[in-house]
Amino acid sequence: MEKTKIILDCDPGHDDAVAITLAANSDKIDLLGITVVAGNQTLEKTQINARNVCQWLGVDVPVYAGCGQPMVREKMIAGDIHGETGLDGPVFPPLTKELEKEHAVDFIVKTLMESDGDITMVTTGPMTNLAMAMRMEPAIIPKIKQIVLMGGAYTNGNVTPAAEFNIIADADAAYVCFTSGRPITMMGLDVTRKVLCYPEIVDRMEKIGNKASKLFADLMRFFCKTQKEVFGWEGGPLHDPVTIAWLIDPSVVTLKPMHVDIDIRSVQSYGRTNCDFFGYGGQEPTANVAIDIDAAKFWDIVEAGLRRYSEA
Ligand code: BDR
Ligand code: CA
Repeated sequence: MEKTKIILDCDPGHDDAVAITLAANSDKIDLLGITVVAGNQTLEKTQINARNVCQWLGVDVPVYAGCGQPMVREKMIAGDIHGETGLDGPVFPPLTKELEKEHAVDFIVKTLMESDGDITMVTTGPMTNLAMAMRMEPAIIPKIKQIVLMGGAYTNGNVTPAAEFNIIADADAAYVCFTSGRPITMMGLDVTRKVLCYPEIVDRMEKIGNKASKLFADLMRFFCKTQKEVFGWEGGPLHDPVTIAWLIDPSVVTLKPMHVDIDIRSVQSYGRTNCDFFGYGGQEPTANVAIDIDAAKFWDIVEAGLRRYSEA
């Protein structure tokens, strides 16, 4: 079977790091490049984190740094969840993997323009890089096969009652992407909060005993601690890997087509993904929104992905 070609645009970030782990070594996915954006931490830190993860795993995928701030508003980071480095927990050896010289937005534009329209854009951070690429070269828009994002919620947010981090951190960028007319699959908090990484899951993955499982355990032990402090859960929601798990096995997530508007105007609900769950508005659906996830199947996909890496 032909692999799904993807560009993974991310802001590592603990759950982004797991998304990279699953995407980089799957027999279903061809990871063309990792593009990095500011989000969980500053760009300076997130691009280092992406390279550290690749180097640790022995993954030979180019890493490009993109936008260090949102399109319009001031930068917002998530140090309370991801720590000072954006990837607190694991200790990495000295970094030798180089950052590509090309800007992430240039890479996205060039790669899409040269493609046959068969590339999926996966975003697991603020959507700045993709939106900037669309504004810089609108001819890429019809070349995007589909956009798969972790972001938003039709229920509660995690930064405000209304808004989820990846959307509120650059709501203008999300607006550009959601109005692009390309097929969108949205993995929001509604489902990612159903895959809480409890201590027994961390133990299960750690037992695999390879580099990927060690990284997973080191990441999750820190992530679960901050998630407990901030949200009170015993396990951290493994948000970002839901995008990759769905590309590997679409039966893991249940989707529902909805009209989705990104709120870039109001004060209280700024950054909300207004999802017309019941179709009241009578407008055409603009996204397939995840409404349920098979958690047991999800953890099996994660375990299988970690096992694909060689021993220690
Ligand atoms: C999203 O925000 C980030 O903190 C996570 O990496 C995830 O992409 C969850 O709201
Ligand atoms: Ca992320």
